[in-house]
Order: sequence, then C-alpha cells, then structure tokens
Amino acid sequence: MRNFIVSAFTRETTADEVSKGIDLSGKRAIVTGGASGIGVETARTLARRGASVTIAARRVDAAQKVADEIAADTGNPNVHVAALELTDRKSVADFAAAWSGPLHLLINNAGVVAIQDLTLSAEGHEMQFATNHLGHFDLATRLHPALAAADGARIVALSSSGHLFGPVVFDDIDFRFRAYDPLAAYAQSKSAEILFAVGATQRWAADGIVANAVNPGAIATPLQRHVGGKLATPPHLQKNVTSTRATQACNRSPTSKPSRKGPGRLRLPRSVNGASLEYFCPS
Ligand SMILES: NC(=O)c1ccc[n+]([C@@H]2O[C@H](COP(=O)([O-])OP(=O)(O)OC[C@H]3O[C@@H](n4cnc5c(N)ncnc54)[C@H](OP(=O)(O)O)[C@@H]3O)[C@@H](O)[C@H]2O)c1
Repeated sequence: MRNFIVSAFTRETTADEVSKGIDLSGKRAIVTGGASGIGVETARTLARRGASVTIAARRVDAAQKVADEIAADTGNPNVHVAALELTDRKSVADFAAAWSGPLHLLINNAGVVAIQDLTLSAEGHEMQFATNHLGHFDLATRLHPALAAADGARIVALSSSGHLFGPVVFDDIDFRFRAYDPLAAYAQSKSAEILFAVGATQRWAADGIVANAVNPGAIATPLQRHVGGKLATPPHLQKNVTSTRATQACNRSPTSKPSRKGPGRLRLPRSVNGASLEYFCPS
C-alpha cells in the first residue's frame, strides 16, 4: 500500500509559512528569472531563510532593484545579481564560468509562454524551447561540478500543467515541418523540463543531486504578456506570487495522468526527499 504524506499546505499557504524553521545559512542558491513574478518571491524566501542568493537575469538593472529590495526586506545582504540570457550559449557559459564553489540550489525558474508567432533563437531553436529547456539544460550541465560539490544539491525546474498539452516532438522540435502552435511549443518545453528532472536525477544520483519539476499553479504575473495578460484559470483556482505550494511535482513518471480531483491538499509519496519520485498531484 502507498505511504502518502498529506501536506497541510493549501493554495493560500505562503512561502514564508512553508519555509518557517528552515535554516539555509551557508547554502548558495541561483534563481533564474528572479527579477519577476514567482522568481522574486522564491529569491526572497531563500534569502529570508539565510541562503546566499544569486538572481540570474537578462535585465540586470531590474534584477539589482529586486535584489536591493529583498536584501532590505529580509536583512540578508547576500543577494547578488548576475547576467544570464538563456537563449545565448555564450551568456550561459560566461555565467557558469564565473561561478566558483559549491551550489546547493539551482532553481530553473525563468520562462516564456505562448509566443504567438514562430520565433527562433540566434541558434535557430524555437524560442520557448530555447529559453525554458535548452538554456536551463546548458546551465545545469555546466554547473554540474558545483552542484556535485554541494554534496546534496537540489535542482528545481519550473514546469507547468501546460505539459499535458503535448510531448517533446523529437523529430521536429523547432517546428520546421509541423505548423507552429504557441501552446504546443510551450507544452513541449515544459515536458522537456520534466524529462530533464527525470534524467538529471538518474544520471547524477551518485553526486547526491536530486532534480524535481514542479507546476507552481496559475499565478497572474507578466508571464502572460503574449496572451493578453490574462490567466485562463478560473479566479478561485488562481494563486498569487507569495503562495508556494506546488500544485504538481513530477519526477519519475512525467507521462502519468494527474488527478482531476481539484485543488485540495497535495499528497506526496514519502520518498519526496529521495531520488525515487513520482508524479504528485492534489488529492
Ligand atoms: N505564472 C503562472 O501561472 C505559471 C504557471 C505555470 C508555470 N509557470 C512557470 O513559472 C516560471 C516563472 O514564471 P512567472 O509567472 O514568474 O513569469 P514572469 O514573471 O514572466 O518571470 C519569468 C522570468 O523569466 C525571465 N526570462 C524570460 N526569458 C529569458 C531568457 N531568455 N533569459 C533569461 N531570463 C529570461 C524573465 O525575464 P524578463 O523579466 O526580462 O522578461 C522573467 O524574469 C516559468 O518557468 C513559467 O513557465 C508559471
């Protein structure tokens, strides 16, 4: 019989409440896209719990303002900013080369959704896949020695329920032959992030690295800029940026179907802290 943890956290629970009592002193974290939306509150919570946080952002000025505000708010001066453009391999390489010492937490948070017209990165990859998956894949693999040096590092990939709308189409990732569909491209990128979590956990287990993919739930942020700024999710199911409970977390079984029972409590198999995870969903 399955042995579930039934979390008391709900959609309204804040990151502050969930992280109460956790001491991250001495831990070092990177939050990509930490200058906007969910990333800001992720960086804030990690800083509040004592971690040294680096906000990796393409708009460095905006990120510096966020870092200053978080430092003032939390009293933690160790909130840093570094330039990162995920669709530019040189930028990713420069970021990783500048990192020294262990890395305990890599939060692959930056993302774009539903770019309306087929847009290619400078390298010729569909932009959502290039940003959401390829850039983070490149970043994580370059930072692997730092993650391994942390002896128990965590990677969190921000996926989405959008992954349910489509798999990774390995034969035509960049929409050269099939018609471009903004949602299919988002779905593909978010499926890839889940597959990355599965693959990284399997391949890097001996280094003590565990990767999880989470669906943060529907939160009104600038993410929806390409679809008129509106969330399709009904208001009573939406969260805000300080709410923290992931509505789904995936590791081993990204293709299994989530529960349709709605936004109740999150049920997690007891192995959540280990390398053998499954698809978690609200009960
Ligand atoms: N909000 C939701 O309802 C929801 C639901 C499911 C999943 N998610 C996922 O949660 C994550 C965070 O989303 P959010 O809602 O907080 O969105 P957001 O407010 O738009 O933040 C996304 C961040 O990613 C950055 N970014 C985009 N492209 C980048 C690139 N090429 N290089 C570096 N940084 C880049 C953005 O930078 P700029 O500020 O410069 O644009 C921004 O800081 C995303 O992965 C998203 O897919 C969100």
